[in-house]
Amino acid sequence: MCGIVGYIGPREAYPIIITGLKRQEYRGYDSTGVALINRDGLQVYKKKGKVAELEETLLGKPLSAHIGIGHTRWATHGEPSDRNAHPHTSASGKLAMIHNGIIENYGQLKQELLNKGYTFTSDTDTEVLLNFIEEIKKNNKCSLEEAIRIALKRVAGAYVILVLDADNPDTIIAARKGSPLVIGIGKGEHFLGSDATPMIEYTKEVVYVNDYEVAIVKADELILKNLGNERQTLYITKLDMELAAIEKGGYDHFMLKEIFEQPHTIYDCLRGRLDAKAGTITMKGVQDNIEQLINANRIIIVACGTSWHAGLIAEYVIEELCRIPVEVEYASEFRYRNPIVNKGDVVIAISQSGETADTLVAIEKAKENGAIIFGIVNVVGSSIARISHAGAYTHAGPEIGVASTKAFTAQLAVLTMMALKIAKEKGTITEEYYSKLLFELEDVPEKVESLLKNADEIKTIAEKYKGASDALFLGRGYNFPVALEGALKLKEISYIHAEGYPAAEMKHGPIALVDENLPVVFVATKDAYHAKIVSNIQEIKARKGKVIAIISEGDEVIPGMADDVFVVPPADEIIAPMISVIPLQLLSYYIGVAKGCDVDKPRNLAKSVTVE
Ligand code: G6P
Repeated sequence: MCGIVGYIGPREAYPIIITGLKRQEYRGYDSTGVALINRDGLQVYKKKGKVAELEETLLGKPLSAHIGIGHTRWATHGEPSDRNAHPHTSASGKLAMIHNGIIENYGQLKQELLNKGYTFTSDTDTEVLLNFIEEIKKNNKCSLEEAIRIALKRVAGAYVILVLDADNPDTIIAARKGSPLVIGIGKGEHFLGSDATPMIEYTKEVVYVNDYEVAIVKADELILKNLGNERQTLYITKLDMELAAIEKGGYDHFMLKEIFEQPHTIYDCLRGRLDAKAGTITMKGVQDNIEQLINANRIIIVACGTSWHAGLIAEYVIEELCRIPVEVEYASEFRYRNPIVNKGDVVIAISQSGETADTLVAIEKAKENGAIIFGIVNVVGSSIARISHAGAYTHAGPEIGVASTKAFTAQLAVLTMMALKIAKEKGTITEEYYSKLLFELEDVPEKVESLLKNADEIKTIAEKYKGASDALFLGRGYNFPVALEGALKLKEISYIHAEGYPAAEMKHGPIALVDENLPVVFVATKDAYHAKIVSNIQEIKARKGKVIAIISEGDEVIPGMADDVFVVPPADEIIAPMISVIPLQLLSYYIGVAKGCDVDKPRNLAKSVTVE
């Protein structure tokens, strides 16, 4: 949460920072701010609202500078407002700081400063930390760098901070623990970001800063130190990301672009790994750990949000194909319970961003208990990718829309390949079924492409139901987590209250909600439970509910019962979720647009949740 950007070098800093902030708005968009140092000294501009709103108010201001930092906020301490927006300035007015994360012991630090006569202009933990740093600098008569190191040893919580000092206009000091920080290396210039998007048109060489490191960034020099003042080695990574991947490319919204990209992203995920004709799946991370995977006593999947739904589907797939017990945990619960994790257990962490704070800590906890960590991550070089023992990237490309779409189907593709590979090596799948599933997996991009051609049908359905205040999503078996995902998408994007339920379970509560105003979305593709779900549809119709059904081509029963149907290409039930979820993504998108919601940046949400 919160996006941070910094620049130092010969170019104009402000346009780089503003463009970088717009690209990082997926991380938070409550308020925006920039700090620059130019010949007029330290300039700080900040405002409640999105980046474009700040930009408008800054026309005509003295923005020319070659050093600067910028921030787009997802509020933790203090409501979104001009005064709580970052950057914050210190009591002397000399230091400016932006921060992503939470300082957990800020109350105690604040009290110490209050006792010394400090006053505060915001409700934020950030202003407290900045003044704490300034107080140390003043008392110890030390450099800013030294003061930051001393201060951070007292800090509990997570942070990335970027600090400017008006008296030292050729240096940005940055530090991280638990939140991401990337530094791009140019010729005589450096770029800083929460991710690499602010710098991709300028450099392909980046350094991912590690926890407890402090970066001293000048135009022509980058030094990393630990909190003990020892120099750290710079590991330079080559970026594999193109500018086009983070632009809308003619679509109205990133979400729509990302939904429509799925034939390609699923293909990219399978490419080089799956060869149905040869009957092979090549996944180095799985192969290198095949013995541990085959012999795992248990697989524990940890994830949050949409990634957790991918985990639920994987539970069904892995148990069915590999006969290994699987448990799926919300990372936020797992990290605070006292879970039983033994040596020989495999923990699969699923995360689009690779930065979700709860998932990161859950992994660390499992690691301490001797589990092997397998990361399924989209963002290359992210923290979860780096701390996992092994893993597989989903190769879905940058996902900018806050609600996850293409990352989800890519996660399912990776998890299914992984399950198939383990099952094959373990001997728990027949040759025929293995081969059938490989060919079916290979066909998914084409099937997705064909259903997307009928997206307008979903648009029509969306128009019909956009006025609903509640909705129910039902599915059975592999389609139950798809129903959960459909409900999550609808509430995220259109703010319609929605619940996902196993179709049979609705009799134990949700059925009480059914009346002629309630749309009930059934994920009812052909599978072993088809006859059962037909009965569930009857039960809803008998109570006058409105039924929207996602059905397989050739289904002759449900069209006669449902109010609206959307037909998808047939697929084996293990493969079906990758296909049946797409109409649900479209439904939430079109309803959100019809209601005038900001579908790419829904209120209160953030894409990368780096606070717990
Ligand atoms: C946020 C996003 C969701 C995402 C979840 C988990 O809530 O808005 O789209 O599913 O975080 O994120 P991760 O990056 O770990 O998959």
